[in-house]
Amino acid sequence: MQRALRLAKLGWGQVAPNPLVGAVLLRGGSIVGEGYHAAFGEPHAEIVALESCSDPRETTCVVNLEPCSHVGKTGPCVDALIAAGVSRVVFAVHDPDPEASGGGQRLRRAGIEVEIGVCRDEAVALNAPFLCSKVRPDRPFVALKIATSLDGFLTDSRKQSRWISGPEAREWVHWLRAGFDAIAVGRRTALLDDPQLTARGDIEPRVPPKRVVLGRKGPIERDLQLVRSARDIPTLLVVDPEAVTQVSRQLEGTNVTIHEAVGLEASLRLLRQQGIESVLVEGGGLLAGALLDEDLLDRVYWIQAPLWLGAGTPAFAQQKATSLSDVSRWTVVEQGSLGGDTLLVVDRRPCLLE
Ligand SMILES: NC(=O)c1ccc[n+]([C@@H]2O[C@H](COP(=O)([O-])OP(=O)(O)OC[C@H]3O[C@@H](n4cnc5c(N)ncnc54)[C@H](OP(=O)(O)O)[C@@H]3O)[C@@H](O)[C@H]2O)c1
Repeated sequence: MQRALRLAKLGWGQVAPNPLVGAVLLRGGSIVGEGYHAAFGEPHAEIVALESCSDPRETTCVVNLEPCSHVGKTGPCVDALIAAGVSRVVFAVHDPDPEASGGGQRLRRAGIEVEIGVCRDEAVALNAPFLCSKVRPDRPFVALKIATSLDGFLTDSRKQSRWISGPEAREWVHWLRAGFDAIAVGRRTALLDDPQLTARGDIEPRVPPKRVVLGRKGPIERDLQLVRSARDIPTLLVVDPEAVTQVSRQLEGTNVTIHEAVGLEASLRLLRQQGIESVLVEGGGLLAGALLDEDLLDRVYWIQAPLWLGAGTPAFAQQKATSLSDVSRWTVVEQGSLGGDTLLVVDRRPCLLE
């Protein structure tokens, strides 16, 4: 299953709105076939694995998601596994998509041994945006990415944040962005940093992420590169209804689309209505604190640089105080290093397990 999960990840940035899926065929403990879903519209992992194997009869197929039982862009994987004579299927997590689910039952009815739940937590974490989009259709999967000093600041006392993290971490962020439908920032970050918010790493996303600026009352300036490049990259600005007229006038003739919503929850609902199923929020601290306070964050990608700043923009402003007896713990889903920096990935609770 670890091999299937690693293969699945190779589809990063290419498969959405489909899930990341890898499959391995085993005979007597040896790998005799494998594959992954490489891009939306292309064959599913199980089909690629079957095609890579000269004789898949009596093999075990290990796959990180329940094989699909419906005709989508490709035929049902369940039928292909049955026709190929596979004798056992091991999968990590059920497919919550009502159209595609039921594969496990169909395999069992065909006399195939089925084992469910191997590496379930890792499989849920890998496909959390997909799984959440199926079970919680009212808003996107919301991940926050921040880079801080060890004392939790996003900037120094002069509001400089370039660069807290090192080149490896910054390169990794480009890879990360490729897997999200949209990249969002608070209005102050848009104004102070004028970030490009594009995925400029080794992986070119199949659909480049849209860009979102979350404001409330204020406008953004016309000469920001975010605004000037909005003709090429869809860019949305969300503001309170009272601000729409003034902001529309200020940005008239630009390609930024202006949307109105009251509060962050409504802003996220609006993004989902715009077809955005996953959003990576890249700060700043006021927005991050508000999302945390309103319990709207699903995941945090936290890059910690080995330095202290003593003062600056706090990573999470205006948080409600919580006592240790009431606090809920997040789940660590990944820890690692990015050059000299540390990466910590935590999930609030996978929405599939809510
Ligand atoms: N190190 C990093 O990873 C990193 C990442 C991003 C940013 N930064 C730094 O962070 C600084 C900016 O951060 P910041 O904390 O000052 O501002 P911010 O979080 O980027 O933006 C705050 C703005 O977001 C809007 N907003 C929308 N809904 C909100 C809500 N419910 N609560 C609060 N704000 C909401 C408000 O716009 P209105 O004014 O229109 O109401 C508010 O002024 C910059 O200096 C930037 O360089 C660092």
